[in-house]
Amino acid sequence: MEVKITVLLSFILLQLVVSERCGDGYCKCSKARKVATCMSRRRQLNYFPSLPTYVKQLRYSGNYLPHLTQDLLINLTRVNLEQLYLEDNVMFKVDPDAFENLTTLVKLQISHDKILNASIVAQVLHNVSRSVKKLVLNHNKWNSIPDNIFDGLKDSNIHFIDLSFNNLHSFNGLRIFRNIPNLKYLILDGNPILDSDTDFHNMEYIFKLSLQYTFIQNVPTFCDDNGESLLPRMRSLNLDHSSLRSISRNDFICLPDLWKLSLSFTGITVIQNDTFLDMPVLQTLMLQNVVRLRRLEYFGFRSASLQSFKFGSSKFKFDNKGRYNNDLFKFAPNITNIELFDNQISDGSTLKTLLWNLIKLQKLNLQGCGINYLARGTFDRMPDLRTIILKGNSLYGWDPTMFNKLFNLRALYLSGNSVAVVNRTSLAFIGKINLKFIDLADNPFACTCQQLWFRDWLKTAKNITVAFYPKRYVCRSPPKWDNTLVALFNYTEEDCREKNPWILIGSVLGSVVFVCMVVVIVIYTHLPTVRNIIYLIRLRRKGYVRLVNSEEYMFDCYVVSCETDEQWVFQTLSSTLEVKHSYRLCIPTRDFDIGASIADQIEEKMRESKKIIIVMSNDFAQDEWCQFQLEKAQERIRNQGEEAVVSIMLHDIDHKHMTSTIKNLLRKSSYATWVKGKIVSKLFWDIVVAAIEKPFGNPPIAV
Ligand SMILES: *[C@@H]1O[C@H](CO)[C@@H](O)[C@H](O)[C@H]1NC(C)=O
Ligand SMILES: *[C@@H]1O[C@H](CO)[C@@H](O)[C@H](O)[C@H]1NC(C)=O
Ligand SMILES: *[C@@H]1O[C@H](CO)[C@@H](O)[C@H](O)[C@H]1NC(C)=O
Ligand SMILES: *[C@@H]1O[C@H](CO)[C@@H](O)[C@H](O)[C@H]1NC(C)=O
Ligand SMILES: *[C@@H]1O[C@H](CO)[C@@H](O)[C@H](O)[C@H]1NC(C)=O
Ligand SMILES: *[C@@H]1O[C@H](CO)[C@@H](O)[C@H](O)[C@H]1NC(C)=O
Ligand SMILES: *[C@@H]1O[C@H](CO)[C@@H](O)[C@H](O)[C@H]1NC(C)=O
Ligand SMILES: *[C@@H]1O[C@H](CO)[C@@H](O)[C@H](O)[C@H]1NC(C)=O
Ligand SMILES: *[C@@H]1O[C@H](CO)[C@@H](O)[C@H](O)[C@H]1NC(C)=O
Repeated sequence: MEVKITVLLSFILLQLVVSERCGDGYCKCSKARKVATCMSRRRQLNYFPSLPTYVKQLRYSGNYLPHLTQDLLINLTRVNLEQLYLEDNVMFKVDPDAFENLTTLVKLQISHDKILNASIVAQVLHNVSRSVKKLVLNHNKWNSIPDNIFDGLKDSNIHFIDLSFNNLHSFNGLRIFRNIPNLKYLILDGNPILDSDTDFHNMEYIFKLSLQYTFIQNVPTFCDDNGESLLPRMRSLNLDHSSLRSISRNDFICLPDLWKLSLSFTGITVIQNDTFLDMPVLQTLMLQNVVRLRRLEYFGFRSASLQSFKFGSSKFKFDNKGRYNNDLFKFAPNITNIELFDNQISDGSTLKTLLWNLIKLQKLNLQGCGINYLARGTFDRMPDLRTIILKGNSLYGWDPTMFNKLFNLRALYLSGNSVAVVNRTSLAFIGKINLKFIDLADNPFACTCQQLWFRDWLKTAKNITVAFYPKRYVCRSPPKWDNTLVALFNYTEEDCREKNPWILIGSVLGSVVFVCMVVVIVIYTHLPTVRNIIYLIRLRRKGYVRLVNSEEYMFDCYVVSCETDEQWVFQTLSSTLEVKHSYRLCIPTRDFDIGASIADQIEEKMRESKKIIIVMSNDFAQDEWCQFQLEKAQERIRNQGEEAVVSIMLHDIDHKHMTSTIKNLLRKSSYATWVKGKIVSKLFWDIVVAAIEKPFGNPPIAV
C-alpha cells in the first residue's frame, strides 16, 4: 500500500518537473515552471509556434529568425509572456515595432547574435512594452553601442541592464543613460573596458555595478567634478577578475553607501593603510584568490563596519611575519564572518595572534591553511562562534579545553586532518556546549584499542549529526585494518585487555604489588611464627646431636618461670616435654625440697640441669626470684655459651617491663615464641626440642 502511494507521488512529481513536448514538437514545456524551451536542430525552426497558455517564459535559442516582425510574434501574444530569451537565432533584421504587442513582457534578452546591429536594437526598444524591467543584451560582440541605444526606454520601468560579454572598450553613462536615470543594476562584465574610458553619470540610483572581467587596472572615479558621489546609493561593486593592480583609500571615497566590495581574482599586491576606511557602511569585503598580494599594511583593514571578510585562496603567507602585523584585525572589530581558507598559517600560535582581536566572530573558515596545531585558548575570546571550519589541515588533535567556552558553537568541521585517535576527553566538550554537527571524516584513523571508545561513540552519538558517517571514517593503520571502516573494526574490550602490552605490564605489576602486600600482611600478623621458623632454620643448619654425656645430669632442663605463668608450665610445657618427649624437668614449685633455702636450691638444681628453660612474660620482670634465676642463667651463658639456655617468649614483654637483664638475654640468644595453633605449635615444640638437644660450647665462650 505504502509503496503504491510512493510510486504514485513520484509519478505526479515527475509530471510536474519533467517537461512535455509542445510547440509543434520543437519545444519542451514545463507547466510547473511555466517555461517553454524551443531549440531546433540545424535551425529548422523559423517561426514562433503556438504554446500552452500557462507559458510565461520562453527560451528560444539556436533557431532561424533572420527577419523578426510583429506578425511572426503573433502566437506569443496569445500567452501572457513575461520573459523572452532570444539566443543565437541569426537575427539580422528586426522591425521596429516587432515586440510592440507583447504587452506583458518584463524581461527581454537578445544574446549571442553576432550579426545584429546595436542600432537596430535601439530602434526596437522604442516600441517595447513599458512594462519591461530587465534587458539583457550580452554576448553580441558589439564593439560599441550607439549613444541613443536606451533612449526608447524612456518612461519605462527598466531597472536592470546587462551588457556583459560584448566587446565594448568604453562605457559612458552620461550619454547612454540620459533617458533612463533610474537604473538600479548594471552588468558590464567581460568587456575590455579601460578605466580611463568610463563615466558613471546618470546612475544616481544604481544599487549594484558589476565590472568583472574588464580591463580596468585602477578603480575608476566615482566622484563628479565637485567631489560628490556619482553613485550615492550603490551598495555592491564587483571588480572580480578585472585587471586591477592596486587600490588605495582615494579610490573609494565616493561610495558612501557601499555594503559589499568584491576584489577577488585581481592583481592587487598591497593593501594600504585605511583603504576601506571611507566606506562607512562597508560590510562585506571579498579578496579571494588575490594571489599576488604580498603585504598588508598596519591599518590595512581598518573599518568599524566590516562584518564579513572573505580572503580565501589568496595563498597569503601569514607565517611570514614581515608581510603583515599581529594587530591586522584589531582595527576591524566588527568582523563576524571570516574566510581564510587556502592561505598559509601553519603555526598554531600565529593563528592565535592573528585571530586574537576578532571577538565578535561567528563563523570562521580555516580550511586548508596547513595548520599544524591549535594553540591553547585560540578561540576562548570568541563566545559567539557558531561555525568553525578546520577541514584539510594537519591537526593531530586538539587540547580538550579548546572548544569548552564556545557555548554557541553548532558546527565543527575537522575532516581531512591527521587525527588518528579520538578519545573521550577530546570530545568531552560536545555535551558541554551542545554541538549539533561535527565532521571528522577522512582522517587517517587508527584501528587500535584506544579507538574503541570513538568507534562506539560514533555508533551511539545522539543529538548530533556526524557528517559522512560511516562511509568516510576509514582506518589507515595498523596495516591489518587499513581501508576498513571504523564501524567495522570489531575488537572488543576483551580483545584489548589481552593485547595491550601496557595493560599486561600493569596487571603484572599490580599482582606483584598485591602479592608483596599479602606477604607483608601475613608476616605482620604471624610475626612470632615467622621468627620461630627463622630460628628453627638456624638451629637445623648448625645441626645437633644428642649429648653423649647427658646422663651426667639429674635433669634435662631447669624451668625458670614466674608464678602467673605456672599454669602454662604445668599444663602445656610439662605435658609436652615430660610426657611426650620424656625429658626430665626441674620445676621449682614442684621439685624443690620443702624447707631448704631457695637460693641454695636454685643454684643446686640449676647445676644439676643440663639446660635452663626461661619462660618469659611481663610478670617475669616484677618477680625478684625470677630476676635472681635469670642472673644465674646469665652466668651459665657466660660459662657455656648461649646454647645453655632455651628462651621461650610466652607473652611479648612491653617496653615498661623490660629490664636490662632481659634485654641482655634477648640480645645474646634467640628465643622461641609461643603461639597457639596446630601447625604453628608443632613448629614451636620442634624449636624447643632442637634447642634442648643442641650441644653447648665447651670450653665456654668468653665474655
Ligand atoms: C502559430 O502557431 C501555429 C501552430 O503552432 C502555426 O501553425 C502557425 O504557423 C503559427 N503562426 C505564425 C505566424 O508563426
Ligand atoms: C498589434 O496591436 C495593435 C494595436 O492593438 C493592432 O492594431 C495590431 O493589429 C496588432 N498586430 C498584430 C500583428 O496583431
Ligand atoms: C549599424 O548600423 C548603423 C546605422 O544604422 C551603421 O552606421 C553601422 O555601421 C552599423 N554597424 C555595423 C557593425 O554594421
Ligand atoms: C513606436 O515608436 C515610435 C518612436 O517612439 C513612435 O513614434 C510610434 O508611435 C511607436 N509605435 C507604436 C505603435 O507605439
Ligand atoms: C601605515 O601605518 C603604519 C602605522 O601608523 C605606519 O607605520 C606605516 O608607515 C603606514 N604605511 C604607509 C605606507 O604610510
Ligand atoms: C557592527 O555590526 C553590527 C551588526 O552585527 C551593526 O549593528 C553595527 O552597526 C556595526 N558597527 C559599526 C560601527 O558599523
Ligand atoms: C586524549 O586525547 C588528547 C588529545 O587528543 C590527549 O591530550 C589526551 O592525553 C588523550 N587522553 C587519553 C586518556 O588518551
Ligand atoms: C538530547 O536532547 C534532548 C532535548 O534537546 C535532551 O533531553 C537529551 O538529554 C539529549 N540527549 C543527550 C544524550 O544529550
Ligand atoms: C571481525 O571481523 C572479521 C571479518 O571482518 C571476522 O573474520 C572476525 O571473526 C570478527 N571478529 C569478531 C570478534 O567478531
